[in-house]
Amino acid sequence: MNHLIAPSLLSANFLHLEKDIEMLNRSEADWIHLDIMDGVFVPNISFGFPVLNLLKERTDKPLDVHLMIVYPEKFIDEIAAAGTEYMNVHYEACIHLHRVVNAIKNRGMKAGVTLNPHTPVLLLEEIIGDLDMVLLMSVNPGFGGQKFIEHSVQKVGVLKELILRKNARTLIEVDGGVNLETGKRLVEAGADVLVAGNFIFSSDDPFQTIHQLKSL
Ligand code: DX5
Ligand code: ZN
Repeated sequence: MNHLIAPSLLSANFLHLEKDIEMLNRSEADWIHLDIMDGVFVPNISFGFPVLNLLKERTDKPLDVHLMIVYPEKFIDEIAAAGTEYMNVHYEACIHLHRVVNAIKNRGMKAGVTLNPHTPVLLLEEIIGDLDMVLLMSVNPGFGGQKFIEHSVQKVGVLKELILRKNARTLIEVDGGVNLETGKRLVEAGADVLVAGNFIFSSDDPFQTIHQLKSL
């Protein structure tokens, strides 16, 4: 399949969020990526339900919610009620990952598991068949605009091999430091979905930048 683009709203202008969402609606963005942080799992706090709950009124694009929080299972109902399509929880935040993944799917959402840069792909060997998506972090989570970790390209290849070996249909999403150069290599390695924040929203023409990422 052609790769998908999921702009991260974290780098949007929060004083003019409606304007940025309208730009995304007109653009070739496939999904909208939403980064929720709690100041505990990651050393930063972003936004929460007051913002998330308004988005569905303003966009028809699928919402891809990336929870950088401890105990994400506490909020499955609220995340579903916001109209979320993909709920991504961190492997490192879930002691009972299998239970959490099933609870997400039972609530009608697609389940994604996110791996920090240091977490090996093969830890997902026993659960990959249950996952709709794996989100590989190509920076340490918590902030937009960080430098891409090179090893992530190789990690995409290892994950692709695991998915094929297990006959799974899991999507591979990559998040952090994505631009035209890193994005191209990630897609060639097997990435299905590219998240990009800073590269899109700090460019002169975000609408056109999304087109360029989509055209890789
Ligand atoms: C980082 C977030 C990312 C972030 C990506 O913790 O998960 O989604 O917005 O930002 P860029 O594309 O700026 O690295
Ligand atoms: Zn993210």
